[in-house]
Amino acid sequence: MQRVFSGIQPSGIPTLGNYLGAIRNWVPLQDTHDAIYCVVDLHAITQPFDPKTLATQTREMAAALIACGLDPKRCILFVQSHVHAHARLAWIFNCVARLGWLNRMTQFKDKAGKDREAASSGLYVYPNLMAADILAYKAVLVPVGDDQKQHLELANDIAEKFNHDFGAEGFFPRIEPLIQGVAARVMSLRDGTKKMSKSDPSDQSRINLTDDADAIALKIRRARTDPEPLPEAAAGLEARAEARNLVGILAAISGTTPEGVLREHGGKGFGAFKEVLAEALVAHLSPIQAEMRRLLDDPAAVDAALRHGAEQAAAIADPIVTEAERIVGF
Ligand code: ADP
Ligand code: NA
Repeated sequence: MQRVFSGIQPSGIPTLGNYLGAIRNWVPLQDTHDAIYCVVDLHAITQPFDPKTLATQTREMAAALIACGLDPKRCILFVQSHVHAHARLAWIFNCVARLGWLNRMTQFKDKAGKDREAASSGLYVYPNLMAADILAYKAVLVPVGDDQKQHLELANDIAEKFNHDFGAEGFFPRIEPLIQGVAARVMSLRDGTKKMSKSDPSDQSRINLTDDADAIALKIRRARTDPEPLPEAAAGLEARAEARNLVGILAAISGTTPEGVLREHGGKGFGAFKEVLAEALVAHLSPIQAEMRRLLDDPAAVDAALRHGAEQAAAIADPIVTEAERIVGF
């Protein structure tokens, strides 16, 4: 079986973007692949965070993943900081990746914002850690949202340079991104040019998986749109980022395509369409929310599952990273 690896930061409550672009696609891979999923707390401290709530947020993220359908019996689910192989390999990769490569990463520019000098050096080398996350398991397939494509290309550059420079042809495999679905990039509800993100300062910009029916209805009602009604065909969405985003979300949540949504709702005004969308979101998310609450009633059980996952993950990653260290000459 091919090995897949993916991760998510415990930097807030997972958003609809995380769910449609990543988490939802991780579920079926549990049965067809050797699937490893990680709550990446080392990544979460690259940006401002609260040490008092980090561990709680990490557990909540794990509970959200399980509630979305990840089953610790069918995949390896663990917390990044519990497996030291990630940090060990990341240091080696810090010394393999070139500054020029990192300078081209658009996510750093987005996340660092205007005051780039004030960003942490961890945020800058984040893609090196991400490469280590994947390659510590020699995973070959990485199911992620479209926003991570550039980082995966960098991971391949790192793997290739490591193999070449240290005379270890074929040691690290090539990685393929697996970018799936009509909503591989869900955009902010307030600005159709920005991706929806759990670390966006505006809560109105995103649907959190834990938002209740009223919050969802309000956020969708306030979502930015243009004054035109829905077009009759998908071609009519091209220059309308906000309209395209909302149509894409309904398509993804109801298992159809943007064309399918427009066949049913083309010609409607956004007022009516937003009601349909909010209702579909509430129906889809409420069972996940109920399961998440049930899991968090027994935090010790979630923690025990994560500890077991870390043991399974370390059993794979430790020998690979020890071999990488030997190749480097340690
Ligand atoms: P965030 O930016 O919300 O903090 P992460 O960096 O933790 O998200 O990413 C977790 C996963 O969710 C990644 O696979 C990423 O590609 C995916 N993802 C994040 N935001 C979106 C989005 N707006 N649309 C689609 N996928 C997304
Ligand atoms: Na599996």
